[in-house]
Amino acid sequence: MNLSSNEIRWLLTTSDPEAVDALMAEACRVRDEVYGRRVFMRGLIEISNHCRNNCLYCGIRREAGCKRYRLSPEQIMECCQVGHDLGFRTFVLQGGEDAWFTDEVLCPLVSDIKGRYPDCAITLSLGERGAESFERLREAGADRYLLRHETADRDHYGRLHPAEMSFDHRMECLSDLRRLGFQVGAGFMVGSPYQTLDTLMKDLSFIADFKPEMVGIGPFIPAAGTPFENEPAGSVELTLRLLAIIRLLHPQVLLPATTALGTLHPTGRERAVAAGANVVMPNLSPRDTRVLYAIYNNKLATGSEAAESVADLRLRMQAIGMEVPVDRGDFYGYDNKEITNGQYH
Ligand code: 5AD
Repeated sequence: MNLSSNEIRWLLTTSDPEAVDALMAEACRVRDEVYGRRVFMRGLIEISNHCRNNCLYCGIRREAGCKRYRLSPEQIMECCQVGHDLGFRTFVLQGGEDAWFTDEVLCPLVSDIKGRYPDCAITLSLGERGAESFERLREAGADRYLLRHETADRDHYGRLHPAEMSFDHRMECLSDLRRLGFQVGAGFMVGSPYQTLDTLMKDLSFIADFKPEMVGIGPFIPAAGTPFENEPAGSVELTLRLLAIIRLLHPQVLLPATTALGTLHPTGRERAVAAGANVVMPNLSPRDTRVLYAIYNNKLATGSEAAESVADLRLRMQAIGMEVPVDRGDFYGYDNKEITNGQYH
């Protein structure tokens, strides 16, 4: 859909509730046309909260002083087993930038998971790595990679990250991932410190140009022990409008209803789906480690966020007219397949 930047700015700032409702309805219509009334689930396995980076917003930054853990490859395989039995067909291995997880550890793990569950997609979300590493992981069988761009404005990026991190390297990683044939996820926080309407407009034009297969957005939530611990949380309303606009700008995008939204609002996930989202990522990590992956305060890890509650999640989604299939939930639009009513032809 062609939305002009003036229209987008207006949609992001208007206090006209009817215009917002119409935006949400149109986003759902577009999503339903591409994917049908389906929400795809991914089993999130938080493999390590060790991180060499020191992002100013993040509760597991190097200097956060939080208790650290990492899962063994055997524990990760067990999570996949539990997840597969529950009907998950995508596993997301997410973690901080932990040097322990070398290619020598990860590649055999990825191929073991692929060998045992050939019907599943593997998504990695392990931060920045070299192009050679991405290539080895891809060859080992990883299908997708999530790496939020965090902000498409270079100066803003510099204010959210320490000097040793680089906007250019982040963007280079995203294009390496694309070139290597990953389905790529980008994304940003809503309401991060120093964000403005102008930086948000840059995020949206980056998404409209790069067209990531996935876009993860959620409100910024202050994290104890970080430089931003006293900053206000981002707005749920603004996040929902951004989800809807992203759906309109990029109809085929896979758009998660993020945990951060669920954390700030009891029906945050449902509201995200009503704004055009179509992915949920319940937590498959071992129960005792879930609380340790505390990238922000009060992060949800129970109820519908917990993988063992898929039945509850299904009911909540069915209550708003959505199915939750046992499906890899791939991006539509590959192999020149035509897309009609959410089905490949
Ligand atoms: N609030 C919300 N999201 C956060 N992230 C990290 N810290 C926070 C926070 N305090 C997001 C970042 C990162 C992803 C793993 O989680 O966008 O890419």
